[in-house]
Amino acid sequence: MSQTYYITTPIYYVNDKPHIGHAYTTLSCDVMARFKRLDGYDVTFLTGTDEHGQKVEKAAEVAGVSPQKFTDQVSQNFRELTAKLNFSNDDFIRTTEDRHKQACQKIWSILLENGHITLGKYEGWYSVRDETFYTETELVDGKAPTGAPVEWVEEPSYFFNLSAWQDKLLAFYAENTDFVGPESRFNEVKSFVKGGLRDLSVSRASFKWGVPVPNDGDHVMYVWLDALTNYVTATGWPVDGANGDAEKHERLWPADLHMVGKDILRFHAVYWPAFLMAAGLPLPKRVFAHGWWTNEGQKISKSLGNAIDPNHLAETYGLDQTRYFLMREVPFGNDGIFSVPALTQRINGDLANDLGNLSQRVLSMIFKNCDGIMPAQPEKPAAEDQALLASVDALLDTVRQHIDKQAFHEALRVIWQVISNANRYVDNVAPWALKKTDPARMAEVLAVLAETIRQVAILVQPVMPDAAAKILDQLGVDPAARDFTQLAGQARLANGQMIAKPEPVFPRFVDEADINAG
Ligand code: MSP
Repeated sequence: MSQTYYITTPIYYVNDKPHIGHAYTTLSCDVMARFKRLDGYDVTFLTGTDEHGQKVEKAAEVAGVSPQKFTDQVSQNFRELTAKLNFSNDDFIRTTEDRHKQACQKIWSILLENGHITLGKYEGWYSVRDETFYTETELVDGKAPTGAPVEWVEEPSYFFNLSAWQDKLLAFYAENTDFVGPESRFNEVKSFVKGGLRDLSVSRASFKWGVPVPNDGDHVMYVWLDALTNYVTATGWPVDGANGDAEKHERLWPADLHMVGKDILRFHAVYWPAFLMAAGLPLPKRVFAHGWWTNEGQKISKSLGNAIDPNHLAETYGLDQTRYFLMREVPFGNDGIFSVPALTQRINGDLANDLGNLSQRVLSMIFKNCDGIMPAQPEKPAAEDQALLASVDALLDTVRQHIDKQAFHEALRVIWQVISNANRYVDNVAPWALKKTDPARMAEVLAVLAETIRQVAILVQPVMPDAAAKILDQLGVDPAARDFTQLAGQARLANGQMIAKPEPVFPRFVDEADINAG
């Protein structure tokens, strides 16, 4: 049995159209999931929609439809986005599904039975936009620290005894030093918990759009307790429930990675582990918090109308080009500035010039100068051949280390170092000049280059699945021989196969269209 890998995206609020931020979180998971599959893992990749709560209820009201109808429509947009952006999720969960309602009610019952939930009264500030409770001292100029408006709430509420979990959480963090990435965010989490935890209101009694509290018909569950539970619902939990699956749950839980944006780290790294400990369930292995994109430095917001539509980007600039840009441009974990010039520069520089040109040049020379037949690897590689092959054979290890830390930008950077080694090698060895003087050597040089391109293409599959497939097709690589067992010198490009006339995979982008259109 191969090792399992269970990765999740946050589930998206259905009050809005999907934008670049949502696409970014899921894309990073898609890259992780594809990488792990190619590396031999049995991967389960979950995404979905977060459909309860006051925010969604209000959005439905504004749209003039029932919450159920509204969530059906908007959830569908997210489902379509996953297909359009070529996300390889294995499951798509909606919190309005029956399987999820059962899991929520089960977790609630366990917490209640074990004395971790008690009835009280909530008096304080609430932000519907953030679906978060705030204390007076947290407010900044009468608003939430996120800038969201708050309203005063006074209502009966069930409370989870979060304060009782402070020491256990700190002990868990101390033992699990990779629990949160990046490290700077982990430090923020630790100081938040060290600062003391207040019990958490986990039910609302003033509206109805939520999972009913099993022991009290006047309350619905707080949307965050409901939402976080999705990660265990999808494993077939509760195992004795109507949708239970003991084998699946055993195999998948605890999750290997919850990918989240920095804004929702506290829910995943503090509240969720506390709920799980209280419910007697194992804790996820890692939570990674990525940064936020701005539109040319400006916060993306509904009111500013400056959201960037990922579908439009894919249509205008190419899907794999967009995927590459998002994963390469910004150190993963940091905030990033989206701009068309930055995107075009990556497309024309890294993709068209560096990788695209390399593969187009090499394949064209093989097509023209070797009668379209892939030449054999040199029997006795020259020093420069060995140096290039050694650099590409070493890539898998380095790339894997970066990917395991969610350093996608670093993984791509080291791959591009090898691409530039290959481009330098072409310039130095000048195979076109060997055509007349030493055609046998020319064939060897082209074979070494084709082998380098093969490994690079296999390694970029997680980020650019379609483009990589085109390159691998052109090289005549068997679709069954594109996983990571084929790297690091364990295999070499076959020779003797006919190649077709190569077509450029990464065209240059010239027209700077307005990214906000559409
Ligand atoms: N429903 C909650 C998550 C519940 S998970 C149990 C939620 N949904 S959300 O739709 O508002 O946001 C989902 C994700 O999109 C978050 O990870 C958030 O960080 C990400 N982004 C939203 N805007 C973003 C940017 N401008 N840039 C990058 N990511 C951003 O929170």
